[in-house]
Amino acid sequence: MQLKDNAFLITGAASGLGAATAERIVAAGGRVVLCDLSETVESHAARLGEAALAVRGDVTREDDMQAAVEAAVSLGGKHGLAGVIHCAGVVSVAKLLDREGNPADLEAYARTVQINLVGTFNVMRLAAAAMSQNDPFEDGERGVIINTASVAAFDGQVGQCAYSASKAGVVGMSLPAARELSRHGIRVMAIAPGVFETPMMSDIPEDAVAALSASVPFPKRLGKPDEYARLAEQIVTNPMLNGEVIRLDGGIRMQ
Ligand SMILES: NC(=O)c1ccc[n+]([C@@H]2O[C@H](COP(=O)([O-])OP(=O)(O)OC[C@H]3O[C@@H](n4cnc5c(N)ncnc54)[C@H](O)[C@@H]3O)[C@@H](O)[C@H]2O)c1
Repeated sequence: MQLKDNAFLITGAASGLGAATAERIVAAGGRVVLCDLSETVESHAARLGEAALAVRGDVTREDDMQAAVEAAVSLGGKHGLAGVIHCAGVVSVAKLLDREGNPADLEAYARTVQINLVGTFNVMRLAAAAMSQNDPFEDGERGVIINTASVAAFDGQVGQCAYSASKAGVVGMSLPAARELSRHGIRVMAIAPGVFETPMMSDIPEDAVAALSASVPFPKRLGKPDEYARLAEQIVTNPMLNGEVIRLDGGIRMQ
């Protein structure tokens, strides 16, 4: 499947990895629906021109994501919604026990899981329903879904119980979803980024960024959002990539 002339839904598209992916797809001649909770998604879509449309929405809400999927279907002609790159997500840090030994807040834990894991399932199920109705491409392919996990799914650090669990859930869904959707010609992949230079990471102090950069075997720096977008492009265009999670991390293994 090519980017050119096809329609893609990108969640979390107002910022960071999602915004970079939208730019890359439009530059390659594709059409995109940029979906995000943040109102800045509208100005970002406007900058990308006629090939981009903004839809404000929360990935945990059925009606919001149904509207985003329908907008992308209508951009896509007979092949409908060709691909989803699901980047919306939140990071959270909370220890199981605080300094006084009090237990962590249960609602905060559930909120992270709701956005990162349940939100991923919500987008995946609604996108798959739309894609299953597409006229297939020549090789029988109807669509591709790319979810965003994290290296925290594998090397979770102290304070990351909620974030790691939510991303491990994204990893765990990849294979069963790919197996199930194969009969419709829909592929499912996940990217597990290491540490990328995005607004999500902007609260990290400079010395911590330097230490993180130094801990990457090569290259010794944070990832650039377009490097994520380049992998997403490769996954869209390479039909043998299916049911797998790809670490994109310069070889980092979190301590
Ligand atoms: N930046 C990193 O180092 C890094 C590393 C590993 C994984 N990730 C994952 O990559 C994805 C993108 O992260 P990023 O770094 O681009 O972050 P970011 O904060 O720059 O962008 C995330 C976007 O998601 C949107 N969002 C949050 N909750 C939403 C919701 N409920 N509905 C709709 N939109 C919502 C935000 O408004 C924001 O625009 C996230 O899932 C994140 O967990 C990032």
